Amino acid sequence: MWSKSTVTSYTLAALVGTILSLVTIHRELQQNQCIRQCVRHTSYMHSAIQPRDDSPEDYIGAQWEESDDHDVQMEEFIPVVKPFTGFHKAETDNIRASLMEETRSMDDMFATQQNIQRGQTLHFAETKMWSLQTETVKIPDAVHNMLPRETGLKPAQYKTCSVVGNSGVLTNSRCGGQIDSSDFVVRSNFPPVGGEFAKDVGSKTDFITINPSVFAFYDNLIKEKDQRKFLDDLAQYGKPLMYTHPFRIYHQAKVCLQAISVMKKAGRMDQVRASHPDFLTSVGKFWKGRGLQELRCTTGLLLLAVSMSLCEEVTLYGFWPFTSYNGHPVNYHYFDRPTIGTKEFKDKSLERELVQHGSFHNFTEEFLFLNRLHDRGVINLHVRPCS
Ligand SMILES: *[C@@H]1O[C@H](CO)[C@@H](O)[C@H](O)[C@H]1NC(C)=O
Repeated sequence: MWSKSTVTSYTLAALVGTILSLVTIHRELQQNQCIRQCVRHTSYMHSAIQPRDDSPEDYIGAQWEESDDHDVQMEEFIPVVKPFTGFHKAETDNIRASLMEETRSMDDMFATQQNIQRGQTLHFAETKMWSLQTETVKIPDAVHNMLPRETGLKPAQYKTCSVVGNSGVLTNSRCGGQIDSSDFVVRSNFPPVGGEFAKDVGSKTDFITINPSVFAFYDNLIKEKDQRKFLDDLAQYGKPLMYTHPFRIYHQAKVCLQAISVMKKAGRMDQVRASHPDFLTSVGKFWKGRGLQELRCTTGLLLLAVSMSLCEEVTLYGFWPFTSYNGHPVNYHYFDRPTIGTKEFKDKSLERELVQHGSFHNFTEEFLFLNRLHDRGVINLHVRPCS
């Protein structure tokens, strides 16, 4: 089961990051009172933003707040997103070509019977928490039999795609119609759509990723009633492809495979797609090779790689990690749901800080990165309300 691999600085840094975030969460569980302070000393994003009249596209804000406990003054940097001037086709085609070459996205986006051999020993995409080794799994025949024969994908097979992030900036955006009018709509982690949310986020869903943390809401899909609930909830999206990551992290493999077998039992394997671990790894490398420093890319950048491979024109909605927009406070999500496991945090801003900083991600850096692609006409980073 185990195989040795080189100890990279990535592994070490990831390990340290994991320990730090575990310590922070543990502390919060133990002493709810102290936490606000603990985070205060480590965060650079806790300032309260005063309402402003001018739009955020018109200014770069570096705002300072007198903190009440006389610790170091912190700021929240709010970037400018310029009005989109159109897609730059040559540049976009160029990046798509490199992306498809470096990540082999057409062949490796999904685990298939072509890229995984019967009985093959597969390396997980990420290292185990307390070890410096990557883990491996020998693919059982039962799993291999469930894989699709091939990905069936074609480069830029759709003209317009929307990748819908879950930021609270979508609340009152009225972007639902615009999102639903695109050829291919990508969402992540089971966000609510339609109904009261339809006007802001739409309801069309063609591709949806589900992190293992979402399965926790269904008690890991062990009991029949939880399985039924999961299938009912998935049905609310229509018949999207469901993208899971059974080969990303060893200890998450079981619940992902459980989800897949629930789908099989329900006769819905045509909707199931699992990522190939090499694709996850190479997507991370691809973005890092273009200047990204953070330790681990978010699902957002994974979905960007998916959509840039499959679409001519990619528009991102609901990507806004900052606590205010245009002077109005912005919630972490456009809906209200625990983001760390199933734990209900009373202090929402604390929950947000733990997610954004107690992990391997750097949301600010990622946003600035996306904004540069926007400036080059490679993606349309849509932040403002729709008309
Ligand atoms: C996150 O990225 C921003 C922008 O690149 C940088 O200024 C900041 O120091 C980074 N934060 C951490 C915790 O690495």
